[in-house]
Formats: sequence, structure tokens, C-alpha cells
Amino acid sequence: MNTIKKGKIEVRMAKIEDLPQMLDVERATWGKEGATEEMIKSRIETFSDGILVALMDNKIVGTLMTQIINADDIGLKTWYGITDDGFIKKTHTPKGDTLYGVSLSVHPLYRQIGISRKIFENIVKLIVKYNLKQVMLGGRVPDYYKFADKIKIEDYIKIEEDNGNIPPDSELTFYRKFGLDIVKIIPNYFKDPESLNYGILLRRKNPCFNKFYRWFILINQNWILNIWYD
Ligand SMILES: CC(C)(COP(=O)(O)OP(=O)(O)OC[C@H]1O[C@@H](n2cnc3c(N)ncnc32)[C@H](O)[C@@H]1OP(=O)(O)O)[C@@H](O)C(=O)NCCC(=O)NCCS
Repeated sequence: MNTIKKGKIEVRMAKIEDLPQMLDVERATWGKEGATEEMIKSRIETFSDGILVALMDNKIVGTLMTQIINADDIGLKTWYGITDDGFIKKTHTPKGDTLYGVSLSVHPLYRQIGISRKIFENIVKLIVKYNLKQVMLGGRVPDYYKFADKIKIEDYIKIEEDNGNIPPDSELTFYRKFGLDIVKIIPNYFKDPESLNYGILLRRKNPCFNKFYRWFILINQNWILNIWYD
């Protein structure tokens, strides 16, 4: 159970000076599968607007790293293929139509206190600012390994309610809270034993895409959130 006392959460663009603290969050979240310092540096240099840090009491406790791509290019590509092996230099496409989540990480000691919720507000700002059609990402299904002998992945991801038999996946439940819908299953998406290496492609469309009022919405964050959660 989380014992951290919730403080003020702030989200801002990452700076090169943040690298050591970002690496701490990366290691605590992903262990040796986490991004290296070179990868994070490359991401900041390639798309600084899309690399965000969440701070609580001036300490970096979460990160979101994104790039812009064309949704048509995703296909059944792996995380490594779609992110240039995590460096995004060759895959970030400024004229693309989709904000793509490269990684979302919250330090284990700071989970379940609203860090991701604050980060998602900033995802909304980004897709409105760049007038992108949607945000997409490859989500995990970290509970699937417990039930894989009982249910096919195609049926497992459809479970939304706890029917007392097989509960919905915790991470899909998390993404549903932000209005993300499942697009497709990508086998061998990344190295993630709990998810049996499945990635679940998720999408949330930008409700303000190409709308004349999007600039007003960008200035007033409350409007953004009202529209997003409508
Ligand atoms: C998944 C993860 C990013 C969630 O971050 P977080 O900061 O703990 O999430 P929040 O506290 O902002 O929670 C937002 C909402 O989702 C819910 N939620 C968070 N984690 C959840 C989980 N594991 N299962 C079910 N619901 C969850 C919260 O209860 C909250 O709901 P509410 O607003 O209705 O109360 C974090 O657990 C993490 O870093 N996990 C490991 C890395 C990972 O899987 N990243 C995402 C895939 S790339």
C-alpha cells in the first residue's frame, strides 16, 4: 500500500538536467528493460515538447515520452520498430497525424495518487496544440499471464466488469478511465513476460481535431478536460 503523502503535482517539459532523476524513475519502473540515458537524451533532442516529467515536491516521480507518427505506419510493428529502438530519431514524424506514447512511467512509491491523471491532462494539451487526430499507445496486459491457460487474449481484453471469474486487466481498466479504446492486439510487441509480450494498441480521438475553437480550448485547461471527459 502507498504510504507517500500526496503533495502538489506539477507536469512540465523535460530538460537535459533532468536526466539523472528520469533515469531513476525509468529503472524503478522497468528495471533493466528501461530506457538508457542515451535513449532519453535522444528523445528530448528529437521532440522536446513531447517528453514530460511529473514532479511532486520538486522531485521527478513520473515521465511520459511521446513522438508523432502516422497511424497508418503502425501495422503490427513492435515497440522497437515503431520507436527506432527507443531513440525516436528515425521514427518521429512532425507532419504525422498521431501522438504516440513511447512510455509512461510512475515511480512505484508514487502510484495511485493521481500522477498519471495529471500527465494525461498534458497529453490532451499536446494533441490539441499540434492538432493531431488522436493519441495512440501500446498498452500492457500485466495480469494476462495468470489466466492465459483459461482464456484467449482476444476474449480477455473484452472483459470490463469483474464477473467473479476472471477480473478485467488492471492496466486496461486504468486506460479505460481515460477514454482509450482498444484498436488491436500486437503479438510480440515488447519484452514483457507478464503480458506474454502482447501489446494492446489503444486510441483516444482528439475531440477538437480541426475545430476552429481549438485555440480557445488550449488556453483554458478546464475546457479541455470537460470536452475530453464528455
Ligand atoms: C500504470 C501507471 C502509469 C499508473 O500511474 P498512476 O500514477 O499510479 O495512476 P493514477 O494514480 O493517476 O491513477 C489514475 C486512475 O487509474 C486508476 N489506476 C491506477 N493504476 C491502476 C491499476 N494498476 N489498476 C486499476 N486502476 C488503476 C487509479 O485508481 C485512478 O482512478 P481514479 O482517478 O478513478 O481514482 C503506473 O502504475 C506505472 O507506471 N506502471 C508501470 C509502467 C506501466 O505499466 N506503464 C504504462 C504502460 S507503457
